[in-house]
Amino acid sequence: MKPVPFVTLWWMLLLVSGLGAIRKGSPEEASFYYGTFPPGFSWGVGSSAFQTEGAWDQDGKGPSIWDAFTHSRKGKVPGEETADSACNGYYRVQEDVMLLRELHVNHYRFSLSWPRLLPTGVRGDRVNEKGIKFYNDLIDALLKSNITPVVTLHHWDLPQLLQVKYGGWQNASMTNYFSDYANLCFEAFGDRVKHWVTFSDPRTMAEKGYETGHHAPGLKLHGTGLYKAAHHIIKAHAQAWHSYNSTWRSRQQGLVGISLNCDWGEPMDPDNPKDIEAAERYLQFCLGWFANPIYSGDYPQVMKEHIGRKSAEQGLDMSRLPMFSLQEKGYIKGTSDFLGLGHVTTRYITERNYPSRLGPSYQNDRDLMELVDPNWPDLGSQWLRSVPWGFRRLLNFAQTQYGDPPIYVMENGASQKLHSTPLCDKWRIKYLKGYINEMLKAIKDGANIKGYTSWSLLDQFEWEKGYSNRYGFYYVEFNNRNKPRYPKASVQYYKKIVTANGFPNPREVESWYFKALETCSINNQMLAAEPLLSHMQMVMEIVVPTVCALCVLIAAVLLMILLRSQS
Ligand code: FCB
Repeated sequence: MKPVPFVTLWWMLLLVSGLGAIRKGSPEEASFYYGTFPPGFSWGVGSSAFQTEGAWDQDGKGPSIWDAFTHSRKGKVPGEETADSACNGYYRVQEDVMLLRELHVNHYRFSLSWPRLLPTGVRGDRVNEKGIKFYNDLIDALLKSNITPVVTLHHWDLPQLLQVKYGGWQNASMTNYFSDYANLCFEAFGDRVKHWVTFSDPRTMAEKGYETGHHAPGLKLHGTGLYKAAHHIIKAHAQAWHSYNSTWRSRQQGLVGISLNCDWGEPMDPDNPKDIEAAERYLQFCLGWFANPIYSGDYPQVMKEHIGRKSAEQGLDMSRLPMFSLQEKGYIKGTSDFLGLGHVTTRYITERNYPSRLGPSYQNDRDLMELVDPNWPDLGSQWLRSVPWGFRRLLNFAQTQYGDPPIYVMENGASQKLHSTPLCDKWRIKYLKGYINEMLKAIKDGANIKGYTSWSLLDQFEWEKGYSNRYGFYYVEFNNRNKPRYPKASVQYYKKIVTANGFPNPREVESWYFKALETCSINNQMLAAEPLLSHMQMVMEIVVPTVCALCVLIAAVLLMILLRSQS
């Protein structure tokens, strides 16, 4: 898509602010619903391997496409930051499990690094036993603390060699490599892991990796690469699910699903059928793209129509959206034991026709424009606005579209508001309270939601944003090589929600807020003293041993001189 000219942007803003007056908030936002979640509801926090582990080349780990992408240092990440050490999570398993215990969560969602387990990506080449041990230790530590591991097989860090040799997800052979890897994981960890997520947010993986190039592997194969990547990812997911179903399920009794991220799309003008259709199209291109094949056997009709028509107008004899054979449709349909959902914000959607001559692209294929209401509170970044009611709508949409599946919210959270005190994250508390409450309303509406994962445990490497976006419950001081963690006020607040399993009554809920903020100023002061502390630490770790070594050396020399002079 061509960049939007400034005048258009300005017009959009005017348009939306005008609209803000007509569509203020939403009726369901007005009332807060006091009540608790169903017994057994699972509360958790999440993270991913590449974003937290560090130790990128340690103990036999192979490089991933994200290592290669960040190391190429072509202005892809601000400040040319890498995740070489990230949160040092590889060396902090026990401490991080303590943080999870402090949060009182029931589950922890994390991902396995494929190249840490299979350095070349191929199971037949070599299994890295140290990688197996690392995840075994993590899983055992969680279980010992009564925390259920929810394990993602692939959260974007494809082994680099699979990219170099085969073109990564552009290649159909990836389904077999993924299936071999998945089987290794089921075999090694499946006795203890009962919740598997094959892919996390594959839409972003395909769109940013193969269309915009903002993510690894950084390809810009407009209007084709992303559909091809998604096609292979969907097949790989189905193959892994079938493997589990036929080989492991009877012994291990676990669940295998996928996690799909999508913002809610609300028609900008709810009385305009074109906007209603555009909003529906937005959701189908976002969630339906992956969920429809898995729940109904094929891509959404509207995707087939739009991409097919535009491809023909662009002189192609085949649609840029690949097709599933009849046999594949049957194989893919029904391959999810639960639906994982990731959600952060909402957009207003209006129709906008992009002529086919503008060329192939995902944006042009959708024929719509995304807008935000300037009245929606903005959080860490411009695109991230707090619109809790959109969450309820998305959950209800998923429930009705996909036949009332068990839903696990796999990601929901907000990044640090700019210029706010890092540890007194009032805005995150507000976000959590609002979004979790809308989820409770969705359950009341009838959605079968089994668990909720707040994103994320720690501040971590946020992909193309580097370390600038902080989603964590725990603040990580990335400038200190030990990466110390500091609790934000939201830790206390989330813990209360978890312990009470919801929002029992106004008096109690109100008191949580004040209690959560009680200690954050003291913690902030400690954080402010961090440079001094890390300086002192450096003195202790480097200067003191060096001075001691020198003293010993000088003493030894003096002793030698003394002995010589005496003999
Ligand atoms: C999701 C990613 C996750 C995190 C959040 C902010 O799409 O899966 O790793 O970066 O966005």
